This record gives sequence, structure tokens and C-alpha cells, in this order.
Amino acid sequence: MVTGSSGSTRRRRRSTALPAVSVLRVGHRAGRDPRLTTHVALTARALGAERLYLHPPDSGLAERLASVGRRFGGRFEVVGAPDWKAVVRAFDGPVVHLTMYGEPLDAVVGRLRNARQVLAVVGGAKVPPDLYRMATVNAAAGHQPHSEVAALALLLDRLRGIPPPGRWPGARQEIVPSARGKTVRNFGREEPRP
Ligand SMILES: C[S@@+](CC[C@H](N)C(=O)[O-])C[C@H]1O[C@@H](n2cnc3c(N)ncnc32)[C@H](O)[C@@H]1O
Repeated sequence: MVTGSSGSTRRRRRSTALPAVSVLRVGHRAGRDPRLTTHVALTARALGAERLYLHPPDSGLAERLASVGRRFGGRFEVVGAPDWKAVVRAFDGPVVHLTMYGEPLDAVVGRLRNARQVLAVVGGAKVPPDLYRMATVNAAAGHQPHSEVAALALLLDRLRGIPPPGRWPGARQEIVPSARGKTVRNFGREEPRP
């Protein structure tokens, strides 16, 4: 409860908007693990993140994701990040570093749900030690080693849930849920608005 200047009491209004999520992938090895980082990007996009900051930048990966966006819609972007620390410092909101050494995800997620925006950080084969200190929260999706893709998916599910079926803005194709087989709805090419 909050006491107003008139002495009256009113309930603190809890935001019902879902936090906007950006993802930072540090330690991408262009040419060595393109598939894994592509899966980080696809997972971020499919589960409702707005962008992936990619350190170091990889224009090939950014183009692959742009191609997915042209087909399936949405506004997801891949932003090259030559300096990952600058992304963390400039972010206006909690920074959640996903690591098996952190606090249990379900114990910290309540602190994040009311944020306007969250930066989720995942590592690669090696994680820079400074990241543990710079993060607002170090969060573990279980305390066993697994994958940045799985950890990110679990965080996005806790924060935003799985997006419902439907056409995304600008999509040329939409997948129609089906008990068996593959059903895809195609849309005509959209003309740019004047
Ligand atoms: C293959 S792991 C590499 C771990 C790395 N050797 C280290 O020093 O932590 C790659 C990334 O997956 C994520 N990850 C793996 N297991 C995790 C877990 N149990 N909880 C949260 N994130 C995890 C982390 O973001 C980690 O940086």
C-alpha cells in the first residue's frame, strides 16, 4: 500500500505489461559455431525477444535472421556488438546473466517480471569473469551444465510465456497449428505503404 499526500491509501499499481527482452550473446565464434549461435538467435526471436546483440559481430548470421524475418515476420534484429561491456553498461534495466553458477532462476524471476526491459546474457565456450560482477543477477536454469539455447528458452518462458499462434506483422507465411502434418498459410506480397 502507498500513502498519498492527502493521507488516503491506494494500492501500488502493478504493471501488467510483459518485460521487453534483449539478448546479448558473448563469445560467439564466427565460423566455428554458427549453428549454435543461430539457434540462440532463432530462440530469442521465436520466444518474443526484440533483438540479439552479438559479440563479436557476424554479418552472415544477421543476414540469416533477416531472411527468417522476411518470411515469418516480426521486427527482431541482430545488432553487432564489438564491445559487450558497453552494451551491458548502457542498458537501462536489469541485466540477467544466465550461468549454472547463479541463483536459481525461479527464485529471481519475480524480481524481473515488473521491469520495463531486461537484458539476458548468455556465454559461449568461455565466459569473461567480469560478466559475473557486472550483471544485476546471475541466474541458473538448474545447476548442471547444458546449453545457452536451453537456458535462454527457459528464461523467456518464465518472463513472457510461449507466443500464441498467429500471423506476425509483415509475415509472408504463417504456420497453422495442426494435429498432424504441416499446414502453412501463404500471404501475398505486402506493398510498402506510401
Ligand atoms: C556451454 S556453456 C559454457 C559454460 C562456461 N564454460 C562457463 O564458464 O560457464 C555456454 C552457456 O550456456 C549457458 N548455460 C549452460 N548451462 C546453464 C545453466 N544450468 N543455467 C544457466 N545457463 C546455462 C550459459 O549462458 C553459458 O555461458
